[in-house]
Amino acid sequence: MNPLILAFETSCDETAVAVVRGAETLSNVLGSQVELHARFGGVVPEVAARAHVESIRSLTHQALNEAGIHPADLDGVAATAGPGLVGALLVGHSFAKATAWARQLPFVGIDHMEGHLMAPRLQFGDFEPPMVSLLASGGHSQIVHVDEWGEYQTLGSTIDDAAGEAFDKLARVMGLGFPGGPAIDRASDGGDPAAIVFPRALPDRPFDFSFSGLKTSVVTFIEKAQAAGELPSLADVAASVQEAIVDVLVAKTFNAVDETKAPVVGGGGGVLANRRLRHRFAEEADKRGVTLVIPDPILCTDNAAMIGVAAAHWLAAGRITDWTENVDPGLVLGQPLT
Ligand code: KG4
Ligand code: ZN
Repeated sequence: MNPLILAFETSCDETAVAVVRGAETLSNVLGSQVELHARFGGVVPEVAARAHVESIRSLTHQALNEAGIHPADLDGVAATAGPGLVGALLVGHSFAKATAWARQLPFVGIDHMEGHLMAPRLQFGDFEPPMVSLLASGGHSQIVHVDEWGEYQTLGSTIDDAAGEAFDKLARVMGLGFPGGPAIDRASDGGDPAAIVFPRALPDRPFDFSFSGLKTSVVTFIEKAQAAGELPSLADVAASVQEAIVDVLVAKTFNAVDETKAPVVGGGGGVLANRRLRHRFAEEADKRGVTLVIPDPILCTDNAAMIGVAAAHWLAAGRITDWTENVDPGLVLGQPLT
């Protein structure tokens, strides 16, 4: 059974609506709010929630039209239940529930991180766990072992900032725009990743990350270099900063691959859109002969198709969310909704 799902993702600053049939994407539309938030240097929760309200109806029409689907054809409606910004989550969740209720369809609430975990299915079809997955976004960084879909073991995570948050903070320090990840990715073009060796934290903890110290060392480096009149090119600084983050993400993910002997390695979350990270993942996967399932960047950053594919999986397995269930901004992967 490949259920036809209308899916919503509004946990942060993208209003996203998609139609999927099983693991096939029929439409995947986005209303990005990046410009609304850029002048504040970060996502403003109230601004995000209001913008979701303004665009969700027209994006829903667009998603249904592009998919060539009439709401009467749907088998279910899904939305992100958490984690994320509570006001933003509530917009998509309530809209999805109301749509499902009005059409007498089942509603499925999905964990945003499980959406990132399952996104590779949209591109690589029905590969099966066990797999190791790196989830790295603006709010989370964790290495997960997937025993089977629904059985998630977090092997390690960040003890302070998320990797995307580190990119965002470092870009600010370097005078680049928001969001910082894509800005550093672009600025690193032509730069030497070995130009400056920034510290790699927690060398003795195989699966955990720490990124907060990196900001201090980059600030100190820039101040000293400026005072000495020896500031390297922006490309060299960006490439070196990027390498410091990418290096630990790759090393620790592949520590987990080696430890668990997982035959498949994947990832999701905005940071997995990073070109250097993708290149390094491909090299390491190749070296070990493991299957790599990192989808195209558009499926790594927030989108609703990933919520749809997860919902299709669970609906086919008979799991429906009760009407009384609410959003959970602090939802933890693998734990039930509270
Ligand atoms: O998964 P995502 O789209 O939203 C959240 O759930 O947080 O991730 C957003 C994060 C931001 O911190 C952004 O700077 C980072 O992903 N990001 C990148 C790249 N594209 C987005 N980081 C590094 N390189 C990129 N190309
Ligand atoms: Zn995300």
